[in-house]
Amino acid sequence: MQTDFLVIGSGIAGLTCALKLASRGRVALVTKKNDAESNTNYAQGGIASVLGPDDTFDLHVQDTLKAGAGLCHRDVVERVVREGPESIRELITIGTRFTTEEQPGRGSHLALGREGGHSRRRIAHAADLTGREVEHALLHAVREHPAIQTFEHHIALDLILTGNPPACCGAWALNTESGEALAFLSRATALATGGCGQVYLHTTNPAIATGDGVAMAYRAGARVGNMEFIQFHPTSLCHPQANSFLISEAVRGEGGILRLKDGSTFMEKYHPMGCLAPRDIVARAIDKEVKERGEESAYLDITHLEPEHIRKRFPNIYERCLSFGIDITREWIPVIPAAHYSCGGVRSDREGRTTIDRLFVCGEVAFTGLHGANRLASNSLLEALVFGKWVSEVAFETPPCPELPDGMTRFPMDTHVEPADETWVAQKTEQLRQAMWRHVGIVRTNRSLERALAEVEAIQSEAERAYRERRLSSGLTELRNLATVAWLIVTCALNRHESRGLHFNLDYPNHDDELWRKDILLEQGEVSFQEVPV
Ligand code: FAD
Ligand code: SIN
Repeated sequence: MQTDFLVIGSGIAGLTCALKLASRGRVALVTKKNDAESNTNYAQGGIASVLGPDDTFDLHVQDTLKAGAGLCHRDVVERVVREGPESIRELITIGTRFTTEEQPGRGSHLALGREGGHSRRRIAHAADLTGREVEHALLHAVREHPAIQTFEHHIALDLILTGNPPACCGAWALNTESGEALAFLSRATALATGGCGQVYLHTTNPAIATGDGVAMAYRAGARVGNMEFIQFHPTSLCHPQANSFLISEAVRGEGGILRLKDGSTFMEKYHPMGCLAPRDIVARAIDKEVKERGEESAYLDITHLEPEHIRKRFPNIYERCLSFGIDITREWIPVIPAAHYSCGGVRSDREGRTTIDRLFVCGEVAFTGLHGANRLASNSLLEALVFGKWVSEVAFETPPCPELPDGMTRFPMDTHVEPADETWVAQKTEQLRQAMWRHVGIVRTNRSLERALAEVEAIQSEAERAYRERRLSSGLTELRNLATVAWLIVTCALNRHESRGLHFNLDYPNHDDELWRKDILLEQGEVSFQEVPV
């Protein structure tokens, strides 16, 4: 299959990028499930941007830098923040219906939510189903566009490289319905494959979030960085059947109070912003309090708000909790942290270029420098939107690919061998996720990281062997990728000898700006450190 541009992933980043590229050439949009299935689709809180009369770009920049604990790249923060309002307007133009409100003297305008670490109300949202609304609007525009051909149920396996130094001229993808492997050849490839929450046992992320893009890019020789900064969302629903369903930070933004089982509050001990402190601080506080008391969860209390307001502002959370027998207008919500977001990823420059020619990244798969050591709430959809656009601009400038050598479009592996043992694949995946949860969670030690490394490396070599010897399946492909991503997370964590933001190691409990205002980068097994630009 020959196309001008290949976009892998149909979340907010991939759809934005594909739409912009489609005015300039043919786009193949490859996605591993149905086109709506993405982290984007589950986003609740909203998109952070300077939209209110009391807000300024500088305040949004300062809040982002503060949450990022000294590792944000300031120039990237400033550029992204300034691009926010225009990006929100573009979403509205294609049909996104954000929640609005009427105010005397201001008429109808966007209702802005508040979340942890934000000094102003600046979150554009569609009740508590923002992601679904945005995904729906973008998909509608993509489906209407004649220059975009979408390939659902195609899982990208690996990038196709040519030349020396290698350039990316497309990717292999497996049609998971027919079992056929196809080459998608393109002059520019944008990876928009999202995050890797599934590397942990408990995560707010859906099943697609298996870090495929980071693993593919790393195998291809791209630079990857800061993978130790995995964000744990403080409040996922603690219920055996809830699958770590997210209870949005916007609930605390509307006045929700964190309590312990005996009703006492605790966040005031940890941060002047209390329940609205940045996420790393709230997640660590809950983890500590709950473990010290031997309790199962903390609680989020919004029973003091008007029931009508709760049902209108949080219809999805209200209904989902009710389905588990919890009426949030009258009862506290049991909550516990769960893996949520990857701040690191494939290293990108200011416009989404990677260290491999013709390969670009946007969205959660990318490490752009925006989030530093801890992402500010609702800055992720913003980053994905803005970089989706910027990648389309630089990808467009890429000249056509040189002719590929003979044989390069033939899939290099035998697809007729024995199928993979899916029970084994599921067991190994579970084992990996358990090990990461146990040893590389909110609080780490050198010993726990060493144990994780040994367990991850053993699973990694078994997965690699099975991948080479068995017929390809999505389960096996994802296990291989999860093992690579787990290895990258543990290796970065072992190399950061301090605690900062989302990385907390009891053996190095402090942070040290003299030595450690550095990004950790990994390329073909080599670790390097780079000063964070001021
Ligand atoms: P995704 O939306 O995850 O899309 C990735 C796409 O790539 C999917 O279509 C997937 O199927 C596809 N894909 C993956 N691997 C392959 C492969 N090998 N081959 C082909 N296709 C592949 N952020 C905010 O800013 N505000 C919020 O309110 C917010 N709420 C959130 C709530 C939840 C429950 C979760 C899980 C996350 C939330 N986030 C929020 C984070 C945010 O949703 C994500 O970071 C963002 O949606 C990522 O967008 P993306 O386009 O990079 O990736
Ligand atoms: C939430 O609604 O709490 C999620 C927001 C985010 O991940 O930025």
